[in-house]
Amino acid sequence: MSTAATSATRLLFEEACRYIPGGTSRVHYFHEPYPIYARSAAGCRVTDVDGVERLDFVNNMTSLIHGHAHPAIVAAIVRQAQRGTAWSEPGEEEVHLARHLVERVPSIEQVRFGNSGTENVMLAVKLAREFTGRHRIAKFEGFYHGYYDYVQVSVKSAPTAWGPETAPVSTPNSGGLSPEVLGEVLTVPFNNLDVVERLLDQHGHEIACFLVDPLASQAGSPIPDPGFLDRLTALTRHHGIVLVYDEIVSFRLGYAGGQERYGGTPDLTTLGKIMGGGLPVGAVGGRAEIMQLLDPRGGGPRVLSGGTFSANPLTMVAGLVAMEHYTRAEVDRLNTLGARVRAGMDDVFRRHGEALCAGGDGSFARILGGDRPPRTYREFAASSAVASRRIAGLHAALLDEGVIITRAGTACLSTPMGDAEVEAFLAALDRAVVRTRT
Ligand SMILES: Cc1ncc(COP(=O)(O)O)c(C=O)c1O
Repeated sequence: MSTAATSATRLLFEEACRYIPGGTSRVHYFHEPYPIYARSAAGCRVTDVDGVERLDFVNNMTSLIHGHAHPAIVAAIVRQAQRGTAWSEPGEEEVHLARHLVERVPSIEQVRFGNSGTENVMLAVKLAREFTGRHRIAKFEGFYHGYYDYVQVSVKSAPTAWGPETAPVSTPNSGGLSPEVLGEVLTVPFNNLDVVERLLDQHGHEIACFLVDPLASQAGSPIPDPGFLDRLTALTRHHGIVLVYDEIVSFRLGYAGGQERYGGTPDLTTLGKIMGGGLPVGAVGGRAEIMQLLDPRGGGPRVLSGGTFSANPLTMVAGLVAMEHYTRAEVDRLNTLGARVRAGMDDVFRRHGEALCAGGDGSFARILGGDRPPRTYREFAASSAVASRRIAGLHAALLDEGVIITRAGTACLSTPMGDAEVEAFLAALDRAVVRTRT
C-alpha cells in the first residue's frame, strides 16, 4: 500500500495505538503497515479517513450481502430505532425473522438468536453435548469456527506439529487455551471419507457433534467432493453424532445456504453475518428435538443461553429485510457474477504467467497459489507457503488501485454490484499483477 496517500490514516493509527492494542479491535482486517480506517460507505464503495474511495470486496468479512447502507435496510433500522432499540421483552420482529428462516431452510425447524457467530457455535456445541450425553467434538483440520475455546483447535496447524494426514494431531490456535481443550477435539482431514470413517469407527461413541463449514475460507475454501456431505450425514447419523453445519459464511451460496448447494442434512446450522442485515448477529437453528433443550417452559431450559442484546429488534428488522431482498433470483445472479470473477482472475493469472489461480464458489472468490484450488487444508498450507507473500503484495497493490480484498486474497460480491464492478475489479487486478512483478 502506498503510504503517501494515507496521511490521515497513519496519524489516526498512531493515536489509536495509544489506546487500543495494535490500534484496532478489527484484528481480522489488520495489515501492515497499518489498516485503512473507514469513514463512510454506500453501496459497494467505502471511503476512508483520507477521503479515498474504493470498491469493497470484503463487505465487513462477507457479512454485507447488500453492501453498505442499503436504502430498505436503513429505512427499517431508522423506523425501528424510533420505536426503541432494545427491550427486555420479546418482540414480534424476532418471530418474523425466525419464521422467514424456518420457511427458507428445510433443515431448520426452530431457531434461537444471539449476537455473534462465535457465541452461536458455542451454543450449538453445548446443545449437542446435552442432547447426546457426550462431550468431545469433531472438526476438520484448518477450519475456523470463531473463537470459542473448543473450536480454536487445528485452525492453523503447522507441518511441524500437525502429525500424519490419516490421524491429524489437534493443535492450539491461540494463546490462553486450557491444554485440556486439545483432548476434547478429534481433528479430521476434509474430503477424505476413508479417514473420516475410520476415525469415527474408533471414536464416534465419544463425539457429541461434528462441525463442518461447507466453504471453509481459512482452509483455502475447499469445495466438498460430490457426495461428501451426504456421506458425512449418514456417518454421523450412524454414530449418533449431531451434525452441525457452520453456515456463518457459506449461507450466501444458496437460497438455503451451502446445504442447498452441496447437499447433506445438518441437525443444527449456525448462522451469522449476512443474516443480520449488517448489524451484529448470530443464530443456531435445526431439529426441534434438539432446539427444545433451550425451551424455558416446564422447569427451565436444560441448556442455558443468554445475551443482553440477543434478538434485539434493530438486528431483527435489518436481518429480515436483508433476507427478503436476497431472493433466489439475486442468489443466482450473484453466483453467476462470482463465476465470471473467478474465470476472469484465472485469465489474468494465465496471461501474466503467474503461479496463482482463482478459488471459492458462488459469490465468493479468492486468490490461491498453485494451478488449482486445494481439496484439503494441507494442500492449501503447502501452496500458501509459496504464494502468501505474493498474494499480500497484490492486496496492497489493489488498495492503491481502489479495490479492497483481504490480505489473504479473499473477495466477495454484494448485490449492488454488477458487470461494471466485475470489470473494474479484473482491470485493477491486471494492473496490480503487472505493477508488483519482481
Ligand atoms: C465459518 C465461521 N464460523 C464462525 C465465525 C465467527 O463469527 P463471528 O465473527 O460473528 O463471531 C466466523 C467468522 O468469520 C466464520 O467465518
